[in-house]
Amino acid sequence: MALQRPKGTQDHLPDGSPKLSRDVQASAFAYVQDTARRVLERAGAQFIATPLFEEAELVRRGVGGSTDIVRKEMFTVYYFGDHGGYVLRPEGTAGIVRAYLQNGLKQLPAPLKLWTHGPMFRAENVQKGRLRQFHQVDYEALGSADPLVDAEAIWLMWEVVRELGLTGVRVKLGSIGDPADREAYNAYLRDCFTPHAARLSDDSRDRLTRNPMRILDSKSAGDQALIGELQVKPMLDFLGEAARAHFAAVQAYLRAWNVPFDIDPAIVRGLDYYRRTAWELHHQGVGAKSALGGGGRYDGLSTQLGGPEVPGIGWAFGIERLLLALEAEGVTFPEASGPLLFLAALDEEHVARAAGLALEGRRVARVEFAYRALKPANAFKEAERRRARYAGLLGSEEAARGVLTIKHLASGEQQEVPLAALNTFLAERAL
Ligand code: HAM
Repeated sequence: MALQRPKGTQDHLPDGSPKLSRDVQASAFAYVQDTARRVLERAGAQFIATPLFEEAELVRRGVGGSTDIVRKEMFTVYYFGDHGGYVLRPEGTAGIVRAYLQNGLKQLPAPLKLWTHGPMFRAENVQKGRLRQFHQVDYEALGSADPLVDAEAIWLMWEVVRELGLTGVRVKLGSIGDPADREAYNAYLRDCFTPHAARLSDDSRDRLTRNPMRILDSKSAGDQALIGELQVKPMLDFLGEAARAHFAAVQAYLRAWNVPFDIDPAIVRGLDYYRRTAWELHHQGVGAKSALGGGGRYDGLSTQLGGPEVPGIGWAFGIERLLLALEAEGVTFPEASGPLLFLAALDEEHVARAAGLALEGRRVARVEFAYRALKPANAFKEAERRRARYAGLLGSEEAARGVLTIKHLASGEQQEVPLAALNTFLAERAL
């Protein structure tokens, strides 16, 4: 058998590929990316790109040493003579905040809105919508602690969903408070769970000392049963006054703009840098435990990375999960279209001339040409296979009169276009 791609990765394939069920249609992927770009650029977000690998220490400090991502899912990068100080990035935020600090972006007007897209890497158990190389669209707003910036970030996510044409999406909004609130909550959780530690899964027993809040996010049915039995209070009950006021302000903005949301009093995100506002977007087509995207405020991250205080908030969509949701809803999107013109010579003598006309035509439109002479019927067939709008023919008769025969494939209408007027013909139809 020929070599296969690694588990948990996907190929991005052209339209019409026979194996589409298991992989990604590149034009669908581009539709999601372009839609997000349009929405984000209208909001004043600028593009940023950071390396695909970073110092392991950045991810450890940024994402958090007690998270599953750092403890179990890191792809370490080795090269000759090296001991593995780098990892493939599991997410975009830590790298973007590092770039912000390292490049003095603090001097730019705040909030500085940045966005990126690209592959992220987590060595997870592979299942539907859970890959080892997946792709995110990521938005970050740095330099402001104003709840209006939080609400704008959530609105932007909602707007991407709306522009994509998805209807079955729910926003789950919560707050994980300020660090002191979280400490109080973790102390409460320790008190709750310690007497029952023997019943917890190994992972959760470990979390009891490191980060008890993560027990609430456990995938073990036994842990979840215990949580229910103990009637564990949610994080929201432990919010301090400042976090509570911030949370109320975010909600008021969202209500004013008619962004629907449900309060999730027990939201736990899989990354440690969050404080205050945290949220996730869910969709039935992707599965109950899997979010389409999520985000939150991370005011402490920059100091965690050794920089000055820089408040920040952001989110990321999983592009593959958005594709699953689009598929589940049957949302159609424009496939990559074919060329405006497919040009063929009718004899070998005119192949170079026809190709030359096609190359010139590419200055105004998408034009393809036949690499060998074709009979008219075959030229039309080829043009149709490529989903061209027009087929053009150049034979000795046309050449003698300085024209091209051009057929509109949908209607069958045929006309002659002077060679000198070809680019005008194309330009008029290119839009
Ligand atoms: P996250 O919740 O870890 O947040 O990931 C965001 C989204 O990426 C998820 O909701 C999901 O759609 C997608 N995703 C995550 N892991 C996988 C996977 N293994 N396979 C497929 N899709 C996946 C973050 O990454 C934060 N950096 C978001 C953020 C930005 N917070 C503030 N700024």
